[in-house]
Amino acid sequence: MRVLVTGGAGFLGSHLCDRLVAAGDDVICLDNLFTGRKSNIAHMLGHPQFELIRHDVIDPFKFEVDQIYNLACPASPPHYQFNPIKTTKTSVMGAINCLGLAKRVKARVFQASTSEVYGDPAIHPQPESYWGNVNPIGRRSCYDEGKRVAETLFFDYHRENGVDIRVVRIFNTYGPRMHPNDGRVVSNFIVQALRGEDLTVYGDGLQTRSFCFVDDLIEGFLRLMKQTETIGPINIGNPGEFTMLELAELVIEKVGGPSKIVHRELPADDPKQRKPDITLARKHLGWEPTIPLAEGIERTVAYFRKEIGA
Ligand SMILES: NC(=O)c1ccc[n+]([C@@H]2O[C@H](COP(=O)([O-])OP(=O)(O)OC[C@H]3O[C@@H](n4cnc5c(N)ncnc54)[C@H](O)[C@@H]3O)[C@@H](O)[C@H]2O)c1
Repeated sequence: MRVLVTGGAGFLGSHLCDRLVAAGDDVICLDNLFTGRKSNIAHMLGHPQFELIRHDVIDPFKFEVDQIYNLACPASPPHYQFNPIKTTKTSVMGAINCLGLAKRVKARVFQASTSEVYGDPAIHPQPESYWGNVNPIGRRSCYDEGKRVAETLFFDYHRENGVDIRVVRIFNTYGPRMHPNDGRVVSNFIVQALRGEDLTVYGDGLQTRSFCFVDDLIEGFLRLMKQTETIGPINIGNPGEFTMLELAELVIEKVGGPSKIVHRELPADDPKQRKPDITLARKHLGWEPTIPLAEGIERTVAYFRKEIGA
């Protein structure tokens, strides 16, 4: 199959490209390299099934492909808040361009949506039927609302034009190739611990998150694209719930060294709890996460040790 992956040089996109190439697909990786890095895909450059195209998803593009995975969008708060207007444009116009192409070439098209569409959730854990509690005018809104409009576009193209869509709502994912400066909690903690610095916990550290290892997540993507039982939206994430304090303690244990935990003020709109209800993924995809947090953290620590030379 010929597959287009937008955002293919990023953290998740590069792992997805690996799996697709390994499965024998021809992969076009379209990326403007804003947060993606050539080093993530360096091992595939020159491979006969892999092609990198430096291009912005907000500008139109045309390829003869059978499938499209739309992952292009900065995903971590410091990156998506760097140019918030551009972030909304990337989500909205990127979705329009992918959907327009899918309609023309009759490709199945996948949208990497996010648990952020649930905002600061009033119910817990979050099923796909929950509509969310999102601030439309805050610092995170460019990302959250951009992703919500992208979902709207996907479902309208499906209803109006019969486009064959798949929408996944991704919960916090971690693993090798995360950007060391992306400001996400797992990479923050690991990098701080490897540098022997104290680990910064926001607020009292009792807010919880669920963390999915990247290999599990990508398996969910591939299963969603293969089957015809559901178009989504479908939650993919690890329902195992950990407080920030528990995560910090695990990282300190795996890295070793002198780091301690220090507390800082909680940023605006930081959700207190986030945990996926994965009933639908279990039912339709036969999917659930298999890699425990301790093992995933160990593999991620090994990556960052090399990456930052600690
Ligand atoms: N990692 C997570 O925990 C998580 C959670 C929820 C949703 N997601 C979604 O998954 C997707 C991938 O996330 P990631 O963690 O790999 O982030 P990432 O920042 O590593 O990857 C995003 C990729 O998109 C590219 N990109 C950004 N803007 C672009 C544009 N205008 N044109 C072309 N390319 C552009 C970047 O250069 C990068 O390679 C994103 O859409 C993100 O919103 C990720």
